[in-house]
Amino acid sequence: MSKISLPTFCFILGTRPEIVKMFPLIKEVKSKNIPFEIIHTNQHFSYQMDEEIAHDLDLPKYNYRLDFTHSDSSSVLGNMIYHLSQYLSKNNFSRRVIVVQGDTNSTLAGAMVANKFGIPLIHLEAGFRSFINKQPEEVNRRIVDQLSDLNIAFDHTCLKNLRNEKLHQKTLLAENSAYSAADYMSKKLKLNLNNLFRSKFRLMTIHRAENTDNILKLKKLHSFALELSKEMPLLWVLHPRTIKTIQSLYNKNKPIIFDKFSNSIIQPLGEITFLQPQGYKNFFSILSQSHSVYSDSGGLVDECIYLSKHYICLRDKTEQVEVLKSKRMILLSSKLSIHSMYNKSKSFEKKPYPQLTNYQRSIKVKSVSLLLKQILKWIKEYKL
Ligand code: UD1
Repeated sequence: MSKISLPTFCFILGTRPEIVKMFPLIKEVKSKNIPFEIIHTNQHFSYQMDEEIAHDLDLPKYNYRLDFTHSDSSSVLGNMIYHLSQYLSKNNFSRRVIVVQGDTNSTLAGAMVANKFGIPLIHLEAGFRSFINKQPEEVNRRIVDQLSDLNIAFDHTCLKNLRNEKLHQKTLLAENSAYSAADYMSKKLKLNLNNLFRSKFRLMTIHRAENTDNILKLKKLHSFALELSKEMPLLWVLHPRTIKTIQSLYNKNKPIIFDKFSNSIIQPLGEITFLQPQGYKNFFSILSQSHSVYSDSGGLVDECIYLSKHYICLRDKTEQVEVLKSKRMILLSSKLSIHSMYNKSKSFEKKPYPQLTNYQRSIKVKSVSLLLKQILKWIKEYKL
């Protein structure tokens, strides 16, 4: 296919996990000299949640960043749709395909404008289902999968979910792009995966509304973290959503949140070390050194598989059921008593981890180039 005949790939992103998971495809598109543009929706707007992550991954500069102030969440979605529409009408490329990822408001806004302008839409990480109908992420995923012209499912369960919704004919199965991002950072940090340096600390992150919007749940998770920290130092990298609540649990005069990680600031046993959100390079370095991970993050699951880390999922339910089946993570519901949570996670940590071989890891990492080939074939077939 001659390059001249290709449409412009328009990547619409706005949050930390979208930057990480779209980066490998953007890099691949760029390396093939295919025209592309990146539009940032301004959903995550702090330096640490956005520019530092993009900088650490050497992401090409955004072509455009939507400009609006954040008030309530519904106006954010409305603003994104309005400003994206304005941008697309003013920058009338002859042909585009829009690429979105995941389940955020940015994903939904991107899908809505693609539909409005009749621009073909590709959805990365399609088909995840929690089957909790009122969960905002679930609503976004279902709408975007319906609107999308090409769904990219990252595992067989996602494919099956899309088949059940009769969307399988417009679906491709591909490896999760998170592995390529992890590999990029691992090379940048010169990690030796066959002999990874491990410190004696556990890593924690919590950001999902199901945990952060329920103060009692968050307090319980904090008590559990304190319990864990009595045995081994615990490092909790905070998300902007949790900082205020966590700070309120402590004496206001006591500064508890640190900016950068160094082993010297690890708190004594029985206390937690808190960090601000970190850039990707810093965070990946901390992750690689950690003993095990306690989190509700989706992206961290794949990074833990890449690095062979025990992942304890602080949720009642997960969309990533295949990882659960592979015994690379367990669910740890905060409905359990702290004692039971502690015992369950400890016994999981003691089990040997089903590591990827170097060969399996390299297949996962290289799969992005195959994915782009499949997308280009699809573009050709449908004469987009
Ligand atoms: C999940 C959803 C995603 C949704 C998001 C918001 C899945 C598979 N994906 O993303 O679609 O948009 O929730 O609710 O469920 N990281 C840093 N610095 C830090 C902490 C994390 O760089 O301080 C990196 C991690 O290495 C990882 C990514 O950020 O690559 C994870 O981001 P996170 O905010 O945890 O979102 P997800 O749960 O992955």
